[in-house]
This record gives sequence, C-alpha cells and structure tokens, in this order.
Amino acid sequence: MNILFVSSEVTPFAKTGGLADVSGALPKALAKLGDNVKVVMPRYYRIDRNKLEKLPIALGVDMGSLGEVWCGVYKSTLPKSSVEIYFIEHEGYYGRSGLYDENGVAYEDNDIRFIFLSKASLKLSLALDFKPDIVHANDWHSAPMPILLKTVYENNDFFKNTKSVLTIHNLQHQGFFDKRAMDILGVGWEHFNQYALEALGGVNILKGGIAFCDALTTVSEKYAQEIQTDEYGFGLQEHIKIYSYKLFGILNGVDYEEWNPEHDKYITQNYSVDTLEDKIENKRDLQGIFDLVPSDEVALIGFVGRFAKQKGIELIASCIEGLLQLDVQMVMLGSGEKWAEGFFSDIAKRYPERFGCYVGYSEELAHKIEAGSDMFLMPSLFEPCGLNQIYSLRYGTLPIVRATGGLDDTIVNYDKKSDKSNGFKFYEASAHALYHTVKWAVEVYKDEKDEFVKMQKRAMKEHFSWIDSAKKYQKVYLWTMK
Ligand code: ADP
Ligand code: GLC
Repeated sequence: MNILFVSSEVTPFAKTGGLADVSGALPKALAKLGDNVKVVMPRYYRIDRNKLEKLPIALGVDMGSLGEVWCGVYKSTLPKSSVEIYFIEHEGYYGRSGLYDENGVAYEDNDIRFIFLSKASLKLSLALDFKPDIVHANDWHSAPMPILLKTVYENNDFFKNTKSVLTIHNLQHQGFFDKRAMDILGVGWEHFNQYALEALGGVNILKGGIAFCDALTTVSEKYAQEIQTDEYGFGLQEHIKIYSYKLFGILNGVDYEEWNPEHDKYITQNYSVDTLEDKIENKRDLQGIFDLVPSDEVALIGFVGRFAKQKGIELIASCIEGLLQLDVQMVMLGSGEKWAEGFFSDIAKRYPERFGCYVGYSEELAHKIEAGSDMFLMPSLFEPCGLNQIYSLRYGTLPIVRATGGLDDTIVNYDKKSDKSNGFKFYEASAHALYHTVKWAVEVYKDEKDEFVKMQKRAMKEHFSWIDSAKKYQKVYLWTMK
C-alpha cells in the first residue's frame, strides 16, 4: 500500500510529546511490513535545512481569500531506515521558535498554518505522482486531510481510490477556530453543521475530521471507550458515538532501539534483565545529578512529562509534602504550566536532600531518570496511551499509575498471587489515592524485595512491538477499502 503519513511532529526532527515518537516509529514499522510510506511534516525553524535535501519543487496551495500560497519542499529519511520524510517549507508559517505556541500562548494563525500543512501534503503527493491508498492523519493538525478528500477533492481522479485514517492522540486539542477557517479550508458551507465542522458557532477541525475520515483510531483500547463518555469526551463524546462503527483502539509500540537499557547511550551503566543488579549505578548517578543524599536503600521515584493538568501534576502538588515524609526521593523533569515550574522548583529548594526538579526539555535526562529510578510516577487524569510507563517497564522501573487510558491497558496492579503484575495502580483521581498508592508501593519496595524484583524482571521481559501495532493499522487500512 502507498501511505501518506502526515504529522505536526516527528522524532528526531521536532518533538513536544509522544506524537513525535509515534510518527517517527510507526511509518518505519509499516515499511518493514512492506508498505510504501511517505511522511510529511513542516520544516520548523529548529530543523536544520543544511541537513536536508532541497527538492526542485514549488507547490502552489489555494488558501481561500489569502490567495495562492507557495512553499518549497525538503527531503530526508527517518533514521536507520529508507522511509522518506518530506518537509513543507514556508518561512512565514513555520520559521518560528515554537511548534504551536510561544511562552504558553498559541500562535493566532494556527488554523492557517495547519490547514496549509494538510493542503500542501496532498499537493505534494500529486507533485510526486505518489497516489496514496491511505492518507493517515494525526490529531487536529492534519485532520483537514480527510475533510478535503471528501469535499474539495471528492471528484478528483488522482485521489479516487484514496481512503483516510485519522488517529486521535489527544482529544483535548481539537483545533477550534472562528469561521474564517471555513474560507481557508475552502469546503462548502453545507458542511458547517453540528454533524461535521460546526461547534459552538465556530469551526472544530478535529470534529470535521472525525466525521469525514474512513476510519478513526486512537492509541489504546481503553481510550477508544473513554472518549465516548462525558468524563473524557471533551464535548465530542456524542459526535464520536455516532462514528463508533469506524473507531478502533490500537496501542502504541516502543522504539526499543531508543529505549533499551542494554544499549542506551545516555546512561552511566547499561544493564539487562540478567544484570539487573547493575541498575543501581544509574540510581547513584541520578542522585548525584540532582544532588540528593546518596542512598541505595531509599525508594527513588521519577517523573518525566509535560507539566500539564492532563499529567496529574495537581495531584502530585497536593500531596508532595506528605510523600516526602515517606522514605523516598523524587526527581521530576518537565516543563509547561508556569505555576508548576515554580512550585516544583521551590519544593526542590526546600527539600534538597530528597527532591530534585529540572525545568526544561532533556532527552538525556529523560533516559537517565528511566534508568536510575526505582519507580516511575504517572498519575494522569487522562492518558490516551502514554509512552513513559511502557519505557519504564523495559528499564525495570515499576510504574505507579492512575488507571486510565493506555496506563490502564498496559499496567497490571501488584498482587502477590498474580504472575502478571508489573506496577501499581490507583483509580480515583485524587491526591489521597495517589499518596496511599505511593506509600504502598514504597512498602512493597522495602518489605517485599523479592516480589519487587520479580515484578521488575517480568516488566523488563515485556515487549510492546511496533510491528504488532503496525499490523493492526494495516488491518484498519484494509477495512476502509471494503
Ligand atoms: P504526551 O505525548 O502526552 O506528552 P507520552 O507519554 O505519550 O505523553 O510521551 C511523552 C514523550 O515526551 C516521552 O518520550 C517523554 O520522554 C518525552 N518528554 C516529555 N517531557 C519531556 C522533557 N521535559 N524532557 C525530555 N523528554 C520529555
Ligand atoms: C498524546 C497522548 C499520549 C500518547 C501520545 C502518542 O500526546 O497524550 O498519551 O502516548 O499522544 O500517541
């Protein structure tokens, strides 16, 4: 199959979260299975043009009353593969320091920037004479593609047999704009209604994408159920229910080339399930990095993630002082909401011997935290899939998670009698539940060492393969053709 895979972020070129990891890995897995995949993303300012190949292509894109807008195209390949990735070059739209925002404020022309990405991607496949069997869009940024295929391109011969798949990585971000987006999209106003593009008097791009795509997927089975409920639907639950016949949950995989303690290039001491005792060197290293009191015995708990409400940072903040009364140390890496950056930095100043916080983005430190911690905290309020808990499993760093979305699908709660347990889970989204679960996990770590190690080894042997996920996507692709 020819697959045109479009994403607003792709590892290692530009990343703010898990979407980039998925976009860097899934196309490679599909290619390994024999598909012909081309990936498209914007050429953001942070992506060095000198490392890319400039193509002799200029694309003219119809942008409604903005007229025809032209862009260039660069090309490269995904690392360690021959999968081609194309970069849409437009200085005005993408030559900025952020991907979506700056200093926490979203760019006011994000509708234009990402409708442009979608339109330019379709134009590119025409220019390359690459007839896609599947256009695979991700989140609202490329959700205009399924909309365009069923409207503007409805009678276009080139796309006659093209089907579209839209993957929701996070329902919270929907691409909600005022009516000018209709003009930029160029689709007829008959689609400005509550079953397609209209919401609250404005234009909801994800909502339109959900209506028009041939298949809708999300990144875990649990989340596929959750988004049809009032609690997790972010206002689109009823809309999604209408289209549940074409909704599939497919869990993300892990790129074990990147996330594997056996050959992780960032960590002090490589280790495997057979040399688990070597993991301690990474704990000592981590304690050193954050200037914590050196101790092999204390339970070291890590956190890596966006400082966003989604990640349960408010729950952590509410009980942090209680948590730090336990025999624990904690390290946090993240950035995002300003209050949280200030709050956790302040806690680090007050408890320097047992709490460390690094505000910012660091690939290296993320790996060091995975390897050096005994446990990994992910108390998310919602989590479509979540990658860090799955990375943690491979590092023998037992996840403590709230039972939601992909966290619930991947983590099996500790039970001495079970031979499947691989972490600790709580259900209620409360600081109380979080605190007591951490306390329990620390007790198991201290008092039931053998059980803890058994779980670590079990976790390290688990395998969340991208090939398995890619096979499921292929089934969905075929389903759209029936
Ligand atoms: P989300 O996409 O919602 O942010 P995921 O768990 O799917 O959550 O993926 C997050 C990815 O981003 C992981 O690869 C994680 O290691 C990485 N990440 C998040 N914040 C940081 C940070 N501050 N520094 C380094 N990596 C980070
Ligand atoms: C989103 C979700 C996260 C998921 C990632 C990749 O950003 O918040 O749970 O793992 O996308 O699919």
